Amino acid sequence: MNSNSVTRGRFITLEGIEGAGKSTQIANLAALLQELGCRVVTTREPGGSPIAERMRSVLLDAQNRGMNETAELLLMFAARAEHLEKTIRPALEVGTWVICDRFTDATYAYQGGGRGVNPGRIATLETLVQGDLRPDLTLVLDLPPEMGLARARARNGGETDRFEAEDLAFFAAARAVYLARAKAAPERYRVVDAAAHLDEVTRQVRSLVESFVRHWDSEA
Ligand SMILES: Nc1ncnc2c1ncn2[C@@H]1O[C@H](COP(=O)(O)OP(=O)(O)OP(=O)(O)O)[C@@H](O)[C@H]1O
Ligand SMILES: [Mg+2]
Repeated sequence: MNSNSVTRGRFITLEGIEGAGKSTQIANLAALLQELGCRVVTTREPGGSPIAERMRSVLLDAQNRGMNETAELLLMFAARAEHLEKTIRPALEVGTWVICDRFTDATYAYQGGGRGVNPGRIATLETLVQGDLRPDLTLVLDLPPEMGLARARARNGGETDRFEAEDLAFFAAARAVYLARAKAAPERYRVVDAAAHLDEVTRQVRSLVESFVRHWDSEA
């Protein structure tokens, strides 16, 4: 290997329905990885770069209730293309680790499971936009939708965005897709019981990520 070459950063995503604890755990995870000596950026989808954040506003705006399903799907991937080019790939290339709050698994869960978009169409866009880039590790924070929505609504003081306004069946379908994807590719996914006490979830997330870091170190 060329002595000037930089080891690529690792790409970790956190997934789960509203109120699962993604934002809470991302902060913990960034601190842990920094303690372990990694350079880390935390980011989110939809969004994560200036133009993608503007697309996020359109996607989440509760006034856009009637958005066409295909328009929603394409806007998710349009935002992802921006995010990848402006934020994710540049960081990974210089060896910075990227921890992302939602990524393409959320498209399979929400647009696929929730809205009923054919997963084959999502897979086509995934390849178009990402090439072969996939997360190195995806943590699925799993909990019953009633519990997640109650947490999210308590946090927001009752305000809901365009997705949070969906019914329980929508989130139950999204949850089922997350669990099915995790089961189908166990090497890349870990499911965390996000209904547990916050300290316990934090402990589980830390321990899972520490074991992945050890495994990656042993490969290097
Ligand atoms: N394990 C937990 N037990 C109880 N409350 C929790 C737990 N984890 C997070 N919370 C609280 O639940 C609320 C939602 O958590 P958080 O914002 O991290 O979820 P999220 O997955 O990022 O939600 P969203 O998808 O809406 O962004 C917050 O007020 C947070 O403090
Ligand atoms: Mg959040």
